[in-house]
Amino acid sequence: MKLIFATKNKNKLAEVQDLLAGTGIEILGIEGEFNPEENGETFEENALIKAREAAKIMNMPAIADDSGLVVGALGGRPGVYSSRYEQTDEKRISKLLDELKNTKAEERSARFVCSVVIVSEKGEILFSTTQTCEGQIAFSPTGYEGFGYDPIFYLPEKNATMAELTMEEKNKLSHRSKAFKKAMEWLLRS
Ligand code: IMP
Repeated sequence: MKLIFATKNKNKLAEVQDLLAGTGIEILGIEGEFNPEENGETFEENALIKAREAAKIMNMPAIADDSGLVVGALGGRPGVYSSRYEQTDEKRISKLLDELKNTKAEERSARFVCSVVIVSEKGEILFSTTQTCEGQIAFSPTGYEGFGYDPIFYLPEKNATMAELTMEEKNKLSHRSKAFKKAMEWLLRS
């Protein structure tokens, strides 16, 4: 079974290919221009926009995710604006740490959220799920693995940030792996 993964993010593609290795489900990266307007109000709406655009371009069934960081002390920001919060990972991290500079440890709870949507080649919704990974915003960045906000996303049960975990460890607990596992279970059943 082949599906187009509606992303230009090579890290995400690698994470998801790792997750689906050995299942017989082949995830292909998208080729050429791909700039869908992510103007949805929820992660699910944005995932659907991306999946439909990829299905249209490639004329194949498509899978898409939309994810982001929801910070309690910031009323849920940056949320669906996580990638647009600043221009680079480094700037996103320093802006977030700055916004939380007067926030105490016990008020720094945060969650990564990921919605995954699968559409047919015509763009009809076949499957949709939203999953989370709970943690806290650290006071400074640690670790070099992963991408995005990983260096400041602290997982109390691991006593480590997401960026200190290997891809294999991250794939056991991340929001995206939980959502893609649900999608994979659905794909294997259908
Ligand atoms: P999108 O899902 O490609 O729209 O991007 C969401 C943004 O949320 C990314 O650019 C990252 O900044 C952030 N994000 C989503 N998932 C992760 C993750 O697993 N680790 C770190 N940051 C993430």
